[in-house]
Amino acid sequence: MFGRKSSAAEAPQSATQAAPPKVEVEKPKPKPKSQPKQKANEEAKAPPRVTVASPKPATEGAVVEVGNRSDNYFQTKTTIFNALIDTIDLSQLAQLDTEAAGEEIRDIVNEIISIKNVQMSISEQEALLQDICNDVLGYGPLEPLLARDDIADIMVNGASRVFIEVGGKIQLTNVRFRDNAQLMNICQRIVSQVGRRVDEASPICDARLLDGSRVNVIAPPLSIDGAALTIRKFKKDKLRIADLVNFGSISEEGARVLEIIGACRINTLISGGTGSGKTTLLNCMTAFIEHDERVITCEDAAELQLQQPHVVRLETRPPNLEGQGEVNMRELVKNCLRMRPERIIVGEVRGPEAFDLLQAMNTGHDGSMGTLHANSPREALQRLESMITMGGYNLPSKTIREMIVGSIDIIIQAARLRDGSRRITHITEVLGTEGETIITQDLFVFDMSGGEDEDGNILGAHQSTGIARPAFWDRAKYYGKDAELADALDAAAA
Ligand SMILES: Nc1ncnc2c1ncn2[C@@H]1O[C@H](COP(=O)(O)OP(=O)(O)OP(=O)(O)O)[C@@H](O)[C@H]1O
Ligand SMILES: [Mg+2]
Repeated sequence: MFGRKSSAAEAPQSATQAAPPKVEVEKPKPKPKSQPKQKANEEAKAPPRVTVASPKPATEGAVVEVGNRSDNYFQTKTTIFNALIDTIDLSQLAQLDTEAAGEEIRDIVNEIISIKNVQMSISEQEALLQDICNDVLGYGPLEPLLARDDIADIMVNGASRVFIEVGGKIQLTNVRFRDNAQLMNICQRIVSQVGRRVDEASPICDARLLDGSRVNVIAPPLSIDGAALTIRKFKKDKLRIADLVNFGSISEEGARVLEIIGACRINTLISGGTGSGKTTLLNCMTAFIEHDERVITCEDAAELQLQQPHVVRLETRPPNLEGQGEVNMRELVKNCLRMRPERIIVGEVRGPEAFDLLQAMNTGHDGSMGTLHANSPREALQRLESMITMGGYNLPSKTIREMIVGSIDIIIQAARLRDGSRRITHITEVLGTEGETIITQDLFVFDMSGGEDEDGNILGAHQSTGIARPAFWDRAKYYGKDAELADALDAAAA
């Protein structure tokens, strides 16, 4: 059969086959179980170093079962996988399409199971066939996690610790890789799809899966206990503002105010910690942009999904393997200004592009938006200032602050709270400066003084601070939204 070695299924023990160009199945060690110590470090050719022993595979705490796989199962799988690798001709398999290759693998694995007289239940056998197909043709043990839409992040810390984030909570799973070599091989498979490489020479790599998920890999020797792989899953059905209201991330009145902020072209900064929901919120805010506006988005990895017809999406580019060809965020934002944008949207402001975004906001590109990492609206303002200072602009801090005040109208603060819930904790206006201090005013806050229920959920509520005429009132009036704004604020204050 195609894909099978001509010497057929007797599973010879030679272990010297070179991997073919496309299907990269790493060669398992001939007798993996007898050499666990060597295996743990099989990839590290780095100079000797004193390393604290890696932590044991985690067994403490609750482990989330993904598929029902016992230790026995993993052992059997390794045996069958090794026999399969000795049996198939990978270079021929690489020429088949995925479906045909999957069929071929299934046939051979079934044969190996009967030759070796492996005792398994039908469901275990089905799981094994699926897992082996995933290992050879896909992303191995990651496949069942990638298929789930409820997982926000997948975090792999070496071969035997895989964590997921579900519903705002991080959980350890029973998913594991055969060894660090398999993990590294899958990392390589992921990044090679976007023409990149990850190895000892270039151990840090950002990439994207075909479905749009954002990937970061940091490999040994930088990552001490095997490669660390982090995936921010791309949500096919992006959350909308109505979903955020349903989840209690924002109150209904707060959402109405956000809608007015978006529609009235108010310059907005979304601030929040890692994974707090900044990009999601930015995406929600873009829904309020009129369909006749020309919008340009600049991102490091395209995550936003604007529904308007007149959108230009730009993405930064990392340097190539020779260290050339990089196009950074600043260059993109600067170029945007020559593209006659009406609004500019910067996925994440993290460096000197802050200056260019502020300038754009200040020079007629009203309604521009961006996100940045900060834990409070005030901290967001400080971060913005330090980004500009570190960008080498030799401006007095008073000037920078005046520039910030002249550009940013609203800061929306997102947070992931200790109970795993994601909330909008502040909608804050930037009013002006007093001396050298920037004056802000909260319109909405999330009040957490209610404590926790018995399950540890935070009992909080969104509250209006009672401001009836926010500073953007005139602007809302100009866009004919003043009555709506008054309504929403009155309802919130009631
Ligand atoms: N209000 C919310 N309620 C529930 N889940 C949310 C909410 N906002 C975002 N999420 C989910 O949380 C995850 C992280 O969201 P998002 O990518 O927007 O965060 P981020 O702050 O941009 O993260 P990063 O700092 O890594 O860029 C996503 O899976 C998203 O679907
Ligand atoms: Mg983000």
